[in-house]
Amino acid sequence: MKNERGKILTITSMKGGVGKSIFLLNLAGVYQRLGKKVLLVDLDFSNGALALSLNISPQKTIYHALDDLMHNRFQTVDDYISSYNEWIDVISCPKDPRHATKIEIRYLSTLLERVSFSYDVILVDTTHGFSKNNIIIYDHSDLLVYLMSNDLMDLKNSKNFMTIMKDIEMDHFRVILNESYMPSQNYFSDFDIHTMIEWKIDYTLSTKLYVKNLTGYLLEGIIPTLDEKTWEKKYKKESDFLFKMANDFIGEEDEYGKEDVH
Ligand SMILES: Nc1ncnc2c1ncn2[C@@H]1O[C@H](COP(=O)(O)OP(=O)(O)OP(=O)(O)O)[C@@H](O)[C@H]1O
Ligand SMILES: [Mg+2]
Repeated sequence: MKNERGKILTITSMKGGVGKSIFLLNLAGVYQRLGKKVLLVDLDFSNGALALSLNISPQKTIYHALDDLMHNRFQTVDDYISSYNEWIDVISCPKDPRHATKIEIRYLSTLLERVSFSYDVILVDTTHGFSKNNIIIYDHSDLLVYLMSNDLMDLKNSKNFMTIMKDIEMDHFRVILNESYMPSQNYFSDFDIHTMIEWKIDYTLSTKLYVKNLTGYLLEGIIPTLDEKTWEKKYKKESDFLFKMANDFIGEEDEYGKEDVH
């Protein structure tokens, strides 16, 4: 048990398929490299695949955790947590899609309270868009990490997201332009994007972070930022940027990134 509560970071987007889950996995690897204990929570109830991507087959999922909390059957969080390695644990999305509709989301805050003193960082994956579930987790997050792509429709949706954030006076979020998952999609410049969404981009994941053999990594359950080969060839060059961004997300001083590289 730590003295301080871990930071809850929720990865969100308005459009599907913009690289949230891969970014979350790579970010978990970066936090491990920073010596942080990490919990991944998969709130993508129908299509989540964090456990699968890590080659983990959990017996119990978030459905069981929330259901057991509601029925007073909950004993210890360990029953619902699967371990990836000594730094990274996972609470999986439901395995049975029928469970997705029966999730007792009002018990999510109780679950987060039970786990928050055992981890430095809790990374939450979501389904894209504004939904009841997302609004609940936004409310419980220390920071929203908003991912968007260089795509006309996504820029329109992102402008809506920014407008809502301004309206509800929520400013604890970072805007990430993800150019790493589709290197050919770079039609709009940073200036165009800034003008369209009326908000500044905090970080750009450059095309240098594109992982060629991503399916191979996922099939083997390897997080690219933790694989020594990819780290040496690709991520090490970007490490100042990655450490700086990861530390910023949890409000910690950056000891590594000496200069602003984005
Ligand atoms: N850094 C990367 N390098 C190569 N391919 C990537 C990268 N990031 C994401 N992808 C690919 O882009 C696609 C979408 O990625 P991902 O599943 O992470 O998006 P998502 O926003 O979580 O999607 P969904 O909304 O369906 O949950 C996947 O096919 C993934 O393999
Ligand atoms: Mg996803």
